Amino acid sequence: MNLEKVRKHFEKEAFEYDELIPRIIPKYYEQNDVILSIIPFDKSTEMNVLDLGCGTGILSYLILMEFPKARVVAFDLTENMLVACEKNLHTYKNRLTLKKGDFGRDDIGGGYDLIVSGLATHHLNDKAKPNLYRKIYKSMNPGGVFINREVVLGDSPALTNQYHCIWREYIRSNGEDDEKWFSKYLEEDIPASIEEQTKWLQEIGFVNVGCHWRYFNYAIFGGIKP
Ligand SMILES: C[S@@+](CC[C@H](N)C(=O)[O-])C[C@H]1O[C@@H](n2cnc3c(N)ncnc32)[C@H](O)[C@@H]1O
Repeated sequence: MNLEKVRKHFEKEAFEYDELIPRIIPKYYEQNDVILSIIPFDKSTEMNVLDLGCGTGILSYLILMEFPKARVVAFDLTENMLVACEKNLHTYKNRLTLKKGDFGRDDIGGGYDLIVSGLATHHLNDKAKPNLYRKIYKSMNPGGVFINREVVLGDSPALTNQYHCIWREYIRSNGEDDEKWFSKYLEEDIPASIEEQTKWLQEIGFVNVGCHWRYFNYAIFGGIKP
């Protein structure tokens, strides 16, 4: 079962993740900066934030640091990721709530002003992804912002193949085994195109839907609940 495979993978990898991820994902730190800079709220805003598939907590950490009145719910499937997240975000523990669950099936809470997700929603299939986006929409206050960093398909199979070659070259250039990572990707991940995902967001009712950043098969996109 795909989700169980995903959970096992991240239980095993949790304590190496922070060191490993920039060697596997191109421009990972740049992506984090883009996510922070596209958040349209004043730094002093009091806001409720949800980080879906928080992993070791990088996006939660950056938001808690930049927005001193933000309260963050860090949500993840994997116990060890939540353990690592709690440790990494110890300084901000008074504004942080950890929640274990499957965002595809479980309640994600409500009253959010900002929902971010990083490299997590592609674990759902293309029926479940729009369902999650609908759940996200319902869980937000009016004016709520959704930002998603994801691995995506190209606009044609040929472009997807080309992006995969570029990606594998990046992994190899960092001394990592691209065959191993690419096989894991084919086994566990179900990416969709930006076009399809932004269409779903518009159909659900999000406005100002757009792709804020793209580098081959990686993208940051989202929308606002009016
Ligand atoms: C690649 S990590 C991303 C961590 C972090 N968000 C980032 O941007 O680096 C993906 C995380 O999503 C979590 N995840 C995957 N599917 C999930 C689901 N259905 N519900 C909750 N968390 C999930 C995994 O446990 C893992 O911690």
